[in-house]
Amino acid sequence: MSYGLVLSNKQSLNDLYSVNLRAYVNANVATVTTLNQAPQIIQMTPNLDFIIAETQIEKSETIAALISAIQQLESSIPLIFIGTSPSAPLEFVTIKNPYDVKEVIKATAKILEITAQDMIKLPVPELFPIPASVFFGQDKTICDAYIKNPEGLAKSSYIKILKKDESLKGKFKKYQQENINKIYIPSDFRLRVTNSATHNMLEKLNREPQSDDQRIENTEQAMNVFSNLLDSVDHEVAEEIKNLSESCIKQVSSIVDNVPNLGKLTQLLLKNQNNYIYTHGVLTHYVSSQIIKNSNWGNQEQIDKVGLVLFYHDIYLVPLYIHRNERVITEEEMRNEELSEKEAKVLESHAQLAAALVQKIKKIPHGADTIIMQHHGTKNGIGFTENYPDDISTLAKVVIVAEAFAEQFLKQTEQGQFNLDDTLSYLRSIFKRSSYRNLIEPLSGILL
Ligand SMILES: [Fe+2]
Ligand SMILES: [Fe+2]
Repeated sequence: MSYGLVLSNKQSLNDLYSVNLRAYVNANVATVTTLNQAPQIIQMTPNLDFIIAETQIEKSETIAALISAIQQLESSIPLIFIGTSPSAPLEFVTIKNPYDVKEVIKATAKILEITAQDMIKLPVPELFPIPASVFFGQDKTICDAYIKNPEGLAKSSYIKILKKDESLKGKFKKYQQENINKIYIPSDFRLRVTNSATHNMLEKLNREPQSDDQRIENTEQAMNVFSNLLDSVDHEVAEEIKNLSESCIKQVSSIVDNVPNLGKLTQLLLKNQNNYIYTHGVLTHYVSSQIIKNSNWGNQEQIDKVGLVLFYHDIYLVPLYIHRNERVITEEEMRNEELSEKEAKVLESHAQLAAALVQKIKKIPHGADTIIMQHHGTKNGIGFTENYPDDISTLAKVVIVAEAFAEQFLKQTEQGQFNLDDTLSYLRSIFKRSSYRNLIEPLSGILL
């Protein structure tokens, strides 16, 4: 077995690289997420065979620092750099696209002098670990699958949880909630599972779905995958991630266009047990489209822009909600939950973070980033306000009013009955300025 070090601050990349390198070249990979940790690990691991590092981590260049750490040891550990950087020396392999896992395997195999034929014959343990996030990217499992027995010392150390050919539809959530991060499979299947899961994860979401239920399942899963990949879009948004979000937005728009009314849409969402961020985003998309359609100034282009805004506006909050089970809890209410320091910071600045993300995407509709930034009524995208200002974008106001309406609709529906008149009076009591009130009036004609 060989030993490698992966230096990346992105969990999704760590998972993909370590499972693929383990499966293909029998490498045991340690991962570090900050540049500071790297020299120590390099020093402590005398038999390190290779290092794979992103060229930049949180805006610091890694190349010079790593080269000097290796030189200090008078060693010559081969380096593979991931990403684009003008300063990458030519003698090192550089792989531009971090998601080109095949290239990463190829470059590592070359360093380890492993041929394609060797790869098939590598000695491996009977059961092979695969990260759950990767394993559940498949539609169905092509082999039996196991988890480690939580009662460690019991007779068998693994428990079979899935039989060959079993569907994996909707199962990821269950294991995620139980904190199961690794799935074990017979080693003979490791290459096939790793391959099909890696490819499926993104491909699945581009397939043309048949029903609204499938569209909802696909797009929520895409949103979850996307939110996992967020820290990977530091420098430029990878093409496949951009395609993924585009196909997602298109599918949500077609759900919103197809449903006869808000009640049917809510039923569809609640039946599918989607997380709140997804559910309230789709409902707000519908309510916004009704405000725009029922106003004399509205047009389709604005509805499309709002659809895109709503896909991204709370994308940074997805992990926060996935780790909590409550289904209907608003973003303001989330502030009263027990949050880690990091989570609280993300909650306060999620509008700003999402706006900055969208600015990196090429050809985004004009002003979409500003609407995202202002979606809680603050101009810098930090915090929440109760005093909604006049001088923000009109479509940001549409989103604010629509989200407040959608929240009420969801809460009242869960409690049994929705009352339109009471809701409109409630909205008038929160939004006192006429530029907001003008957006509440079109809602008296909303299809319920
Ligand atoms: Fe929101
Ligand atoms: Fe938000």
